[in-house]
Amino acid sequence: MGEAWRADRIRFHDNLEIFEVDLSHLSFTSEEQIDAVYHEVDRQLAATGRRWYFLVDYVDCVIAEKVWDHFAARGKHANITYSLGSVRVGASATTREAIRERAKREQFRSNLFETRDAALIALAEMRKRHEVVGSVATEPFLRAQDVHLYFGGIGALQGVGFGAQRGEIFSIIGPNGAGKTSMLNVISGFYQPTRGQIIFDNQDYTRFKPPAVARLGIARTFQNVALFKGMTVLDNILIGRHIHMRNNVFSDALYWGLGQREEIRQRELVEHVIDFLAINHIRKTLTGTLPYGLQKRVELGRALAMEPKLLLLDEPMAGMNLEEKGDMARFILDVNDEWGTTIILIEHDMGVVMDISSHVVVLDHGEKIAEGTPNEVQSDPVVIRAYLGEEH
Ligand SMILES: Nc1ncnc2c1ncn2[C@@H]1O[C@H](COP(=O)(O)OP(=O)(O)OP(=O)(O)O)[C@@H](O)[C@H]1O
Ligand SMILES: [Mg+2]
Repeated sequence: MGEAWRADRIRFHDNLEIFEVDLSHLSFTSEEQIDAVYHEVDRQLAATGRRWYFLVDYVDCVIAEKVWDHFAARGKHANITYSLGSVRVGASATTREAIRERAKREQFRSNLFETRDAALIALAEMRKRHEVVGSVATEPFLRAQDVHLYFGGIGALQGVGFGAQRGEIFSIIGPNGAGKTSMLNVISGFYQPTRGQIIFDNQDYTRFKPPAVARLGIARTFQNVALFKGMTVLDNILIGRHIHMRNNVFSDALYWGLGQREEIRQRELVEHVIDFLAINHIRKTLTGTLPYGLQKRVELGRALAMEPKLLLLDEPMAGMNLEEKGDMARFILDVNDEWGTTIILIEHDMGVVMDISSHVVVLDHGEKIAEGTPNEVQSDPVVIRAYLGEEH
């Protein structure tokens, strides 16, 4: 090692919610060295009992190729468990490449900066974006409380409760028929629960109908793509804007009535979404003619055009190939990161859930059977049994 690792290389900046770890001038050649660092990192983070923005200093830090996997795995664990977002400073060209390459594979943002100042500014912006959606609160942003939903005699949901925090990517998983879509339908107002409450940003909206729920800032996509197949991509996305237009009617008359400036603003937002999702080349294409993966992306675009505070995604990667899944995972991470949007995600692919979400609720036969970090849930015997049961 160039220099020695010491616990005082870890610093907490409470007022900025920043956790800083200085790996500069260290050289990692064995797993033991890495474990020594992360043992201390994890220990100190765990002791705070909360999440932080990570700032990691890599100036002249050398990580031997043979221990990169180990280094990355420990870093990833710390990130998933304790991070609100990470920035990295001063990585050498080789380290930068390794981080970038991993970021691409494992779907996180590499957020590399030349100087500590630039990294701090980026963190401050990240934090501000998260705060735009609201201040840090202990009360969950979205809370489901003792939710029951019956179809005839079938209990699709039986006393389900959980809380999703502001700014997090929260996953709901479970075998087929577990009640996942039913839960999303309750949150978005499509179904009224037989019993229980749904609270968003401290407001009980259990009895709201879908349009009123949308106006609260809750948007969704559907398990089976729900686009107007005879309309273009652009028009489908413009429809997402309609909740922000006067009278909430999407008609030519209204459209012209908005006046040029308003129309320009609406267009700009839609253009931003199109640009963000890289679908400019298909803007004039009828959505019905698009491959499935792109239809899913357009549907996400329509939801984003609503500028939601809470985005509900029902199996956004179902039926996609590996590459499309990777793209979608990145878009979800980027939405969360750029706009601070809270996301509730239903997903079957455990790998994706592990990679991108911070908290997981597991449903089975309409009941919550487990809850925790992806790691905790994945190794929970009750969860394993529920999933295995599916195959028999
Ligand atoms: N509209 C409905 N009418 C009657 N039963 C329904 C309705 N919607 C859902 N159910 C039933 O409620 C239970 C939960 O279904 P739900 O679609 O919520 O499961 P899911 O976890 O989303 O499953 P999948 O992984 O297959 O999408 C199932 O038994 C289902 O048959
Ligand atoms: Mg479903």
